[in-house]
Amino acid sequence: MSRTIIVCQTCKMTSDEKLNENGKAGGEVLTDHLEAVLAGRDDVTIQKQDCLWACSEHCNVVLSDNERFSYLAGRFEPKREAAEAIVEWFDKHGQSKTGQVPFKQWPDEMRGHFIARLPTQTSPNKTDAS
Ligand code: FES
Repeated sequence: MSRTIIVCQTCKMTSDEKLNENGKAGGEVLTDHLEAVLAGRDDVTIQKQDCLWACSEHCNVVLSDNERFSYLAGRFEPKREAAEAIVEWFDKHGQSKTGQVPFKQWPDEMRGHFIARLPTQTSPNKTDAS
């Protein structure tokens, strides 16, 4: 099983601010927070990627799993709270059979951030997935 959080390194800090006061892009800042939250764990890998082609949004990530649905999410504030919510949600995803996390279990910080669900070749078909 391969579980990876792919983080766009070139994403903006906000919808109209590219860099922070130290010259870092929003995706780089979010990566720093995700690495801190995942420190000491080896079950989830962080992969850095320049541009995920979702540039109309900012701080985009792909929650990638080779056995379950993967997800593209974005519009995060590059802060510790967002990183914790992303990891919390992805942990619930990893505990599920198909990668579908019941909405009521989502951390509040994840609501409104999903952009796309990305099936694998073995994902449930449209009649099984809600
Ligand atoms: S710059 Fe992040 S998706 Fe394009």
